[in-house]
Amino acid sequence: MKLVRLLFIFLSFPLFAQQGGMWIPSLLEGMNETEMTNLGMKMTAKDIYDVNNASLKDAVPHFNGGCTSEVISNQGLLLTNHHCGYSQIQSHSTLENDYLENGFWAKSLKEELPNPGVTASFMVRIEDVTTKVLNGITNAMTEAEKLKTIEANIANVVQTSPKEAWQENRVRTFYEGNQYMLFVVETFKDVRLVGTPPSSIGKFGSDTDNWIWPRHTGDFALFRIYADKNNRPAPYSENNVPYNPKHFLPISLDGVAENDFTLVFGYPGTTDEYLPAIAIEQVINTINPARIAIRDAALAIQDKYMRADPQIKIQYASKFARIANYWKKWKGETLGLTKSNAVGIKKQQESALISEINKKGKQQQYGNILPQFEQYYSEIQPYALAREYYLETVIRNVELLRIAYQTYQLKQVYEERGEQSFMDRKNNLVEGAQGHYKDYNQQVDKEVFEALMDLYAKGVPQQFLPASFKNLNAAELTENVYKNSAFVDYASLKNLLEGNAEAVLAKLNNDPGYKVVAELANTYFEKVAPKYEELDLKISGLERDYMKALLELSPKDARIFPNANSTLRVTYGKVAGYSPADAIYYEPVTHLEGVMQKYVPGDYEFDVPKKLRDLYQAKDYGQYGENGKMPVNFIGTNHTTGGNSGSPAIDAHGNLIGLNFDRVWEGTMSDYYYDPSLSRNIMVDIRYVLFIMDKYAGATNLIEELKLVHPKKENKKNRKK
Ligand code: ARG
Ligand code: ASP
Repeated sequence: MKLVRLLFIFLSFPLFAQQGGMWIPSLLEGMNETEMTNLGMKMTAKDIYDVNNASLKDAVPHFNGGCTSEVISNQGLLLTNHHCGYSQIQSHSTLENDYLENGFWAKSLKEELPNPGVTASFMVRIEDVTTKVLNGITNAMTEAEKLKTIEANIANVVQTSPKEAWQENRVRTFYEGNQYMLFVVETFKDVRLVGTPPSSIGKFGSDTDNWIWPRHTGDFALFRIYADKNNRPAPYSENNVPYNPKHFLPISLDGVAENDFTLVFGYPGTTDEYLPAIAIEQVINTINPARIAIRDAALAIQDKYMRADPQIKIQYASKFARIANYWKKWKGETLGLTKSNAVGIKKQQESALISEINKKGKQQQYGNILPQFEQYYSEIQPYALAREYYLETVIRNVELLRIAYQTYQLKQVYEERGEQSFMDRKNNLVEGAQGHYKDYNQQVDKEVFEALMDLYAKGVPQQFLPASFKNLNAAELTENVYKNSAFVDYASLKNLLEGNAEAVLAKLNNDPGYKVVAELANTYFEKVAPKYEELDLKISGLERDYMKALLELSPKDARIFPNANSTLRVTYGKVAGYSPADAIYYEPVTHLEGVMQKYVPGDYEFDVPKKLRDLYQAKDYGQYGENGKMPVNFIGTNHTTGGNSGSPAIDAHGNLIGLNFDRVWEGTMSDYYYDPSLSRNIMVDIRYVLFIMDKYAGATNLIEELKLVHPKKENKKNRKK
């Protein structure tokens, strides 16, 4: 492919000033191998990705579509983050058997806990299908016509590309529509919980420490993949057996030191590294402030109830963590974008590109892109703001509205596809809602509803408000809804959805909760969504052209990597500290000493279990300590994002040295702008994981499954010879 050759020219140069990047595993040989070797890697690109032989990629499945995990034994033992398995751990927890609070360790295969619906997907093979997907696209087409042709071509590629019966073909775009790749994936559906430390280790520091370095969290949990008798994916069954992987990661006991090579392999979700300055300004000034304000309100209420009531604490633990996570991230992101002068730097890059366009006489082709960005982004601003309010309120933070919204969709299903589809969807809804109400507290949700209705009426531009929100009495509305709506408990919901479509719709139309959702959604779909989508499509088209211009005209030493898109990527760098502010330098490794320094007896974020304090007192670290100390977390220059949680941190030889779980506060803007002096990923030292499994939990049955190695010691021996 031409694009690949182009990139090869850009990137095959020696450099040490690393600038981030999340790279495509099948293209490392041309694009990254030299740089990786210069950074200290002792493997070849083929050791990482190989279609014909077992390679690292065969040990790194996507965990439940949102996180990453790695296989660490020949019996399908799977390591990921505690926060990635959090809702599974929570769903097995009760006040009597609280695995969040106390941890859980299966002593044998029989004790491992099934998790219906949880998946682990392996990537089998990657193929460039750009030519096939762009077949028939002409410059004369509108964006919508192009999109239609592309969608048809993708469907065709998915249908016709060879794969095994139990596998699946997926096509994803790279470089904003300039490249398309086919992925063949294999999804395992029987994934059982094997072990987890208590939250006081797995979530130590909780939200106060989240996105922060120095960090001291043992953020790990263990699962196991089960397969059928033929080692193939199968739904849960008692007869399934542990999966025998093509490859599993050996674990290094030799630890890390500053400047060691590291590679993080996983499924980063979304990044937007090539937005124009005006888009970044919109994130800083409009989008993030709105999101943060809404979540400020929702979180304060949930927190108040969780602290007062242990039952509510279990019910809301997972929901709260999810909302708090991005709330805090957006704050750090705004700060980092400002501090790193991302807008200023993007503006400079834009003027450089403009002069290059002029110099090369490409005004006709590319001259309009930046002015059009300016125009579309200012046009989209009020729509984007209203959309954010709508999503944060209706879909993400008010539980009653989220469930009610599902019934709103039910109505649409009826109108579009008739009675049978309606009934199927309705039955799914009733079944799915059961789990929701198990963790539902009406009082908490009611307060959140009132606060968010009030914010909605004040924050959404007037022209996008439903009529009844113009002089809203939020307290009155709230009283009425929570007194009379059927969405406040499971029994009334079931009752509400009893009967045929006509009967159900009649009842819905009279429900005050439904009325709120219908008003909000109708207004949104009439006044916001169409224009937003129209502009968004235009912006996507511009982004594709902008990317093309960047690929064609950037200086030779530019590192142009594709944005994250939930496909398997390699990022690499080295273990490195950083300086967050004048006169402060953060070391790259933390130790158990730091856990003890943060220890606050009885505190819900910083308590330390007695057993761990005892092990610390006795310095009983076994083979996992180093010079009398127990390493806990470390940081590196690997460019990661949401979805990389649970990703293996791998040494120069292909052994596991850590488990990615977070980024540092000053560097979270790396989804828009990676600053090599500030952006760091945070990993759990694998020796801390092993220490907790072995010394703390006594899970020696699991330790025996692992392959523990000493690559650094081996190397020294070999050199002496
Ligand atoms: N910030 C990390 C990530 O985005 C970890 C989140 C889990 N921890 C928490 N306290 N919510 O997922
Ligand atoms: N904690 C994130 C995750 O869950 C990783 C990150 O955003 O750095 O994927």
